[in-house]
Amino acid sequence: MKNFTNLFRKEVVEQTAYNAGIAVDRFREVYGIECIAKLDSNENPYGPSPNALKAIENGIPDIASYPDAGTTDLRTIISRRHNLPVDQIITGNGSEDLIPLIYDAILHEGDNIVTTCPSFGPHEFAALACGATATKIKYHDDWRFPVNDIIEALALKPKVLMFASPNNPAGSAVTEQDFDKIIKALTPDTLFVFDEAYIDFIDPDVSFDAIEKLCATNLPWISLRTFSKAYGLAGIRIGYALCADTSICSTLLKIRTPFAVNALAISAAIAAFEDKTHLEMCVSNTRKERERLSIELKQRGYNVAPSQTNFLFFDCKENGDDFAEKLRCKGILTKGWKEEPYLNWLRVSIGLPEHNDAFLKALSEI
Ligand SMILES: Cc1ncc(COP(=O)(O)O)c(C=O)c1O
Repeated sequence: MKNFTNLFRKEVVEQTAYNAGIAVDRFREVYGIECIAKLDSNENPYGPSPNALKAIENGIPDIASYPDAGTTDLRTIISRRHNLPVDQIITGNGSEDLIPLIYDAILHEGDNIVTTCPSFGPHEFAALACGATATKIKYHDDWRFPVNDIIEALALKPKVLMFASPNNPAGSAVTEQDFDKIIKALTPDTLFVFDEAYIDFIDPDVSFDAIEKLCATNLPWISLRTFSKAYGLAGIRIGYALCADTSICSTLLKIRTPFAVNALAISAAIAAFEDKTHLEMCVSNTRKERERLSIELKQRGYNVAPSQTNFLFFDCKENGDDFAEKLRCKGILTKGWKEEPYLNWLRVSIGLPEHNDAFLKALSEI
């Protein structure tokens, strides 16, 4: 068998492959059964705004042309919503696309980044691929944000602090008080990347405007946002970053592919962003089902992390990957977590009520 891995950088060759959810048609092919509930990738079961679908349809005749490399129309409406200048916004082929871009632009071999444990894989792995080291700060057992340990790690002036709030896979969100403490401890030596992929699902009584707080500092920061979750556009791939200053965007743009965001994604995102009614429907139904599913799991004796997202994370009392496989055999897709010390934990996305019922039924049968 041929093996050309010796041509590539050791840090890349040694990477673990991303544990991506399985597409429904691939699942059918591999397992030979229909997917009853796809709850493995935190997608939006209500789908995107009908206006986004219309925008995609309207854009099809023009796909022979390259899209606007500057994604100007989209960045303009994002700029108005966030009250930030257009040149402090950069779009990506999903927000995931922006994570390695940021690391590639900032990290030298041997640099250190700080993130949480558990964390969204690319926050750690994309840094390791650059030859950097990652300090992972573990959440408290009751899922409180490890604010003091992070502050301690910041004293060593890591090149980047990157974490998500709400957290994936745990679902818990940093409190406003802890966020304030983090900002106070940060210095301009560290780029703060705050991944807000699940911001729309946070309950109003615990949500706060991180951008307003960050804008009031002189710190270098980036907030990552996505259209894949509450906006239901995961398949078309589009996300964006709000940045502390135009110098961050212009630097990142130097190494990104100019047409990373496709024309249909731009049109869909504009339409989705403007349809607040659809967004509110998706979020309010998801919150209700999140509450119902969480109560049901707790009643069955599971330890469930508090969630401000469109998924739940719970201790399934055996290897999470094996447990997910048992559920897959019943047509239910979930994600067993593969990060120590959470190997017995399972992440399940909040689906339509009937999906969640099917998940609960399969759970009883196992
Ligand atoms: C915390 C977090 N950030 C970013 C992303 C990536 O989203 P996108 O689909 O925009 O690449 C995800 C996707 O699951 C996520 O959980």
